[in-house]
Order: sequence, then C-alpha cells, then structure tokens
Amino acid sequence: MANGFPLEKCRAIITGASSGLGAEFARQLAPDAEWLVLVARRADALEEVKTNLSSHKVQVHCCVADLATDAGRDAMTAFLDVNGLKPNLLINNAGLGDYGTFASSEAAKTRMQLELNMTALTMLTHAMIPRLQRPGGIINVSSLASTLPMPALAVYAATKSYVTSFSEALAIELEGAGITVTCLCPGPTPTNFSKTAKRADGTDTDRDGQGLLRIPPSQVVRLALEGVNTGRPCVFPGTGVIVAGTLFRLMPRWIMRRVLRGRFNKGKV
Ligand SMILES: NC(=O)c1ccc[n+]([C@@H]2O[C@H](COP(=O)([O-])OP(=O)(O)OC[C@H]3O[C@@H](n4cnc5c(N)ncnc54)[C@H](OP(=O)(O)O)[C@@H]3O)[C@@H](O)[C@H]2O)c1
Repeated sequence: MANGFPLEKCRAIITGASSGLGAEFARQLAPDAEWLVLVARRADALEEVKTNLSSHKVQVHCCVADLATDAGRDAMTAFLDVNGLKPNLLINNAGLGDYGTFASSEAAKTRMQLELNMTALTMLTHAMIPRLQRPGGIINVSSLASTLPMPALAVYAATKSYVTSFSEALAIELEGAGITVTCLCPGPTPTNFSKTAKRADGTDTDRDGQGLLRIPPSQVVRLALEGVNTGRPCVFPGTGVIVAGTLFRLMPRWIMRRVLRGRFNKGKV
C-alpha cells in the first residue's frame, strides 16, 4: 500500500464542487486546507458553496469552466497558472449519468458523459501531475457501478469501469513518485446526480435494493478522506457498498448477466 497523503494545510482543486459530493469535499477539507479551487459550470452555485465556507480561514477560489470541453479544461489549468496556485491535491469528482437504454439516448448526453467522466478526468490528471507539489494526492471519483455492466445505465457504468481501472494502474505507476492515488467507488448517494441523470421524458432508474447501499454524502466523503490519509488505493464507502462491490467482482459473469437481464426485463413491464 502507498503512503497516505496528509490533508493538513492541503491545497486542493475540486472539480464538480458546486453540489453533491464535490461541495461536501470542500466543506470537509475547509477547516484544515490552505486553499481550495472550486470548479464547475454554475458560477452562482460555486459562490454559494464559497459563502458557506466563510467561517473558515481557508482561501477559496471559484473557477467557472465546462470540463466537458478542451477549452474548459485548458481554462482550469490556466486559472491555476495565472494565479500562481500550486496544488498538492486534485479531486476529479465532476461526472454525470443518463438513465435509460443506450438506443434511446441522446447522442449529446452520451458524448458529455464520455467527455466529462473519462476525458476530463484523464487529461486533467495528465496536466496536473507535473504541477502537483509532493507529497501529493489524486482522488478519482468512480462508482460502485464500475464493478458491473448496467443495462439502462450502460455508458455511465462503462465510463466508471474506465475510471477504476485507470486509477488502480496509476496508483501503482505513481508509487514512489510522492503522489497517492485513491479511487472512490460510492453506491447510490443522495445528491443532484439522479436529477441530472433522469431524462426529459421522465425515464428513471430501478431503485430496488438501493436503500441498503445508500449513505449520506458526508459519510462518503469522510470515508474517502480517511482512505486518502491512510493511502488506500480504492475506497468502497459503507458496509453495504463493500459487500456489494465484493460480490459483483467475484460473481461469475454468466450469473451476473442472468441477474441483470431479469432486472432489466422486469423494468420494461
Ligand atoms: N450520487 C450518486 O449516487 C453517485 C454514486 C456513485 C458515484 N457518483 C459520482 O460522484 C461524482 C459527483 O456526483 P454527485 O453525486 O455529487 O452529483 P451532482 O450533485 O450532480 O454533482 C455533479 C457535479 O459535477 C459538475 N459538473 C457537471 N457537468 C460539468 C461540466 N461539464 N463541467 C464542470 N463541472 C460539471 C456539476 O456542476 P455544474 O452543473 O455547476 O457544472 C456538479 O458540481 C460524479 O462523478 C458521480 O458519477 C455519484
């Protein structure tokens, strides 16, 4: 296991910090951090997160950028360089999903998932490794969905599979380079995720069994930061998520397909 990354006086970039897990990372890091850069598209929502941190001494910078585009990603790195900000922690958290079948999906939303969940995370990591001060840390927010194929959430689950695979390999590459990589695989968590993933026609997801896995964002982030502190390469937050993740990864693929087919067909009736 890699050495842990000490969070005291950290200088962190948090993508997708305007709501949900990203805003929670900002709240939990604020008491100890030197500065935070909050990145997302909605300036007003970022300013609200910043205002809520004003009781702490931490300096908070808001960087408005659409990370699903090359221009937005370049704007984020330029923001750091222009302001002379040298981070030691990158939290690749921005991401989105899309409930419904692939055949009925909108091409633009599919492309956005690929761009944000995979390309942004990869290219920002590439741009930040030379900029990260040592000891440094990278947290990549993946999902429990990375452990299984998910009909009616197919592209999202595949992008998160990529994130987990990429992060675990990178953690090994960067061992000894002074950068700890932690992959966070949350289960269903109450944030704006579902609102964004729902389609305009109301297409939603099958929530059967999700109650056993759901824990609040505050607990997900607390467990993630504990994992970073102790140098764990992969964090499955919560007992239900640990059990489910272990089961999904060990289950023979043919049994997995049978279970998923049954669940998918049930949803169609
Ligand atoms: N909630 C869950 O059940 C769950 C489970 C497992 C994993 N996750 C993962 O957790 C991460 C955080 O999601 P969340 O649950 O906190 O959902 P959320 O509340 O919807 O937050 C998503 C964040 O991403 C930002 N974002 C979306 N598109 C962006 C873009 N093009 N450029 C820059 N920022 C963008 C959003 O801000 P703007 O709209 O202001 O840009 C927002 O701050 C995601 O990677 C998600 O896949 C969530």
